[in-house]
Amino acid sequence: MPEPTPNPRGAEFWNNTMGHTWVSQQAVISDVFTSVTRVSLDAAAVEPGEHVIDVGCGTGDTLLAFAKVVGPSGAVLGVDVSVPMLDFAKHRAAEATLGNAAFALADATSYAFEPRWADLVYSRFGVMFFDDPVRAFTNIRSGMKAGGRLVFVCFRTMPESPWFGVPIEAARPHLPPQLPVDPLAPGMFSFAREERLRGILAGAGFREIEIKATDVPIDGKDTATSMAFITQAGPLPALLENASDEQRMRATEAVRNALAANIGPDGRGLHVGLWLVSALA
Ligand SMILES: C[S@@+](CC[C@H](N)C(=O)[O-])C[C@H]1O[C@@H](n2cnc3c(N)ncnc32)[C@H](O)[C@@H]1O
Repeated sequence: MPEPTPNPRGAEFWNNTMGHTWVSQQAVISDVFTSVTRVSLDAAAVEPGEHVIDVGCGTGDTLLAFAKVVGPSGAVLGVDVSVPMLDFAKHRAAEATLGNAAFALADATSYAFEPRWADLVYSRFGVMFFDDPVRAFTNIRSGMKAGGRLVFVCFRTMPESPWFGVPIEAARPHLPPQLPVDPLAPGMFSFAREERLRGILAGAGFREIEIKATDVPIDGKDTATSMAFITQAGPLPALLENASDEQRMRATEAVRNALAANIGPDGRGLHVGLWLVSALA
């Protein structure tokens, strides 16, 4: 049974279409975020024997990487609100016979973490969806050893991520006018403002907070790989929601052309603008 969540709207989002999309597109997502994963795992610098919590671990890409490094003397815990994504992560851990991986179907805002357990708390894009981020990070910190490392990546503003911005600007002329969205509302760009992010982490009791702007290339075999993600996840699907079939078709074609014009045959050419965040508990 999942734990009750203080953010049912968010949990619903990740348990319905978007959760199933992240499962069906897991290989694509893993591929496009190859460099993001490398940059953030390098910053996490996990060691054999450590205890790691992966917040919003999703389908388990980074959680499995940690489980391999920490080995039998260490342990990893993946916390996520999404049943389909967590089930997929569990399945992958079982297939890889990683007995040191455990999972909690829960909201990280309220999950009863074992006090002072983790050497490292990490997240690849799993911490921007909290309704009450200070409460969430305070709760997360309760599960960390004194001096434990927090390392995560999140997005800066959308225009700083051409991998999102280029297709959206291509699609926009073909779509109905969009209502302005609250940039601070829970969602993928909610930590775009550095001072807000710093205030949240400081408010939750973290120290030695470092927030580094990092532009990271998107990988992927070819344009089709980016197309598969961009049209089903990230910010574009919400814009396509109220479009007619005709508008959606034209917008999709424009996105395909824009990606083809910007991505080389090796799948590279566009980047995402990230904050690489680290702090101590
Ligand atoms: C953008 S996905 C990233 C998934 C994974 N970290 C990856 O990079 O493949 C965001 C993840 O955060 C999870 N999530 C959202 N809100 C959460 C919360 N309050 N507590 C725990 N997980 C949450 C979602 O279910 C989803 O798996």
